[in-house]
Formats: sequence, C-alpha cells, structure tokens
Amino acid sequence: MRRTMSTPLPKAPALELESSLGRSCDVLSAPDASSFASYPASWYFFGPSSSVQKPGGSPVSRQLAGERVVVYRGADGVLRALDAHCCHMGADLAGGEVEGNCICCPFHGWQYDGDGRCVMVPSGAPPPFARQGVHPVVERDGCIFVFRGSSLQAFPLPTFSALPREGLVPGRPFRFDGPWPWYVTFANGFDIQHMTCVHDRKLLGEPIVEELGFHGRRLRYRTEVCGRSLADRALRAFVGTEVDVTIDFWGGTMAWVIARFRHATSYVLITFDPRDNDTTHLQLVPFQRNTLWNRSPIGRLSLELRRLLTISFLRHDLDDLGEVIYRPGTLVEADRNLIQAYRWLADLPAVEPESTG
Ligand code: FES
Repeated sequence: MRRTMSTPLPKAPALELESSLGRSCDVLSAPDASSFASYPASWYFFGPSSSVQKPGGSPVSRQLAGERVVVYRGADGVLRALDAHCCHMGADLAGGEVEGNCICCPFHGWQYDGDGRCVMVPSGAPPPFARQGVHPVVERDGCIFVFRGSSLQAFPLPTFSALPREGLVPGRPFRFDGPWPWYVTFANGFDIQHMTCVHDRKLLGEPIVEELGFHGRRLRYRTEVCGRSLADRALRAFVGTEVDVTIDFWGGTMAWVIARFRHATSYVLITFDPRDNDTTHLQLVPFQRNTLWNRSPIGRLSLELRRLLTISFLRHDLDDLGEVIYRPGTLVEADRNLIQAYRWLADLPAVEPESTG
C-alpha cells in the first residue's frame, strides 16, 4: 500500500544538528557515505534490443554493477545473460560465437548453455568448477534489462507509472559519465530546489513523494518552464508552459520519467550504473508511443527532437555543477526530500552473488 511520505512528512526520528553558526535546526539526519552500497542490487539497463538483435548473432558484453555481463540471443530467439569472463582463464565470451542456444568461448572453445553449465570442453570432460554465473534478463519495449544480485534480492522489472495502450518504442540512448557517486547522482532528482537555480523552472505547488514498496519511490511535481534557452522557448511555443512530472525511482538504478505538457507527453528512462566511488555512468533513453506514424521517418525525427530537448535539460547538471560533494551534516530543512531519499538509498542492499550451495 502506498503511503505519502513527504509534504507533509510524517513524524520521523529527528536529530538536533548544530549549524556552523551555532544555531540548532531540527532536521532528519542523512546517512554517512559509508552506508551506501557500492553497487545496489537492482535492474540495470543493458542496451536497446537492436544491440543483440539477430538470433545466433554476435554476443555483446558490458560492464554492469562492477562486473562484465555478456548477453546473447540463442537460435531460438531467447536472450540469455551470463558472467562475461570465462571461468577457465577469463576470456570475454563476447569475443566468441553463439552455437544453437549455447555460447562458445573464443579462447579454448568451452561451451556454456543459458543456465551457465559448461556442456562441452574440446579437450575432454568439463571440470566440476566449469560454470558461468547467470543473470535474469528481460526484454521490454525495445530495451534489454539485466538484474544484478541474487534471486533473493530480485524484484519485478519496473516501468513507467502509466503506459499508452500502443506500448512504447525507444529512441537512441544518450550516454554520459557524471563525476559524482551513484547515490548523489540518483538523489539529484529529489532535489527540487535545484530545479529553479539550474533548470529555470518555477515550482507550482508542493512536490509529493510516495513509497512504492521497499525498492521504489514516486515523485510528483508541477513546474512552469521559465528559461530563455532555445529549448525552453521551443517547449513553451509548441507543447506548453506548464508541465506535470511523475518520476518513478527504482532500486538506485532507474528513474522512469513522464512529463505531461499541455500538447505532448514525454517518456524518458534515466539509468544509473556506478563505475567507481566518484563516477556514475548514466544512460538516457527517450520513448514515444508505438504508433504507425511514430515508426515512420518523420515520427523517428520527432523522437530525436525529444531526445535533444531532454539532453539539453540534463546538460545543465553536467555543465554547471562541477564536483558535488556529499556532506550529510550540511543538509538543511529545505533539503528534507533529499535527506529522505538518501535514507532510502542507504537501506538498499548491495549486489550479492547467487548462492551455489
Ligand atoms: S578462457 Fe575460455 S575456454 Fe579458456
């Protein structure tokens, strides 16, 4: 059951913090940086379906939550995801080939099925240790997602809070690295104050945060587009001045954004993947309704335009902020939503390997 958890906030344990001026302020305490998992157990965006399109085609590997994962499509068209580094001598299976529904290592030809079992070693019988880790993989709306963590940590793949009847088609992902830890990058979405200073948005009414169970939070707010940039002027001229935003945040790794303007609705997925303590790899995937028109060349062009407008919006964070340092003791009453977000993120479990016992 959902519970509105902020604005107004329920009574929660509070701390008296001394500010640098010696005044005390009653704020929720934000967790220490050591409380956050290095890699949250969650769903990670692997890439568009087109990156692993053809049954039996070339496998592809990517870094996800600190490990390399290979995804391939068997001859039956089904996707499989395994640890990319071969358990023999560590070669990347993405350099190998798909044979039937198995993947073959490029180095010495060991062959693994979709359950990670080694089913063939050219030089003899597979040794007992010969096994690859397996990861849940889901393909939806033209995108591939991989869960990193044990089966005990798994939860269903989330999606947008509302979906059009026709479903969605994705546009080209936009990838960039943010020079901030994953929890700072992710919690930025809850920092409503920065909408005014960084993005030239005027907040209309109070933002609302709801719990979506243990792994999710929903943020809703309404803003007015006030900026003088070309992108903002185009928005006001063609789709409207005010926008209702609903963002479903999941697992520390995904933000499903719906922005409803008067004359258009925009769907964007933003994904987060920690690269090290200070860097987060972000991917932005725009979507639009899966109609005949939207699949036409002109429809694809309009999706490209939405992509550019969204990049232009997020660019302000990248270009204007520089290094953002997590200092829990400096957060103030106006940062309440942000502090709540940090407390939630600190509770999220770290990736655990699947138990083989
Ligand atoms: S490293 Fe893969 S078979 Fe040897």
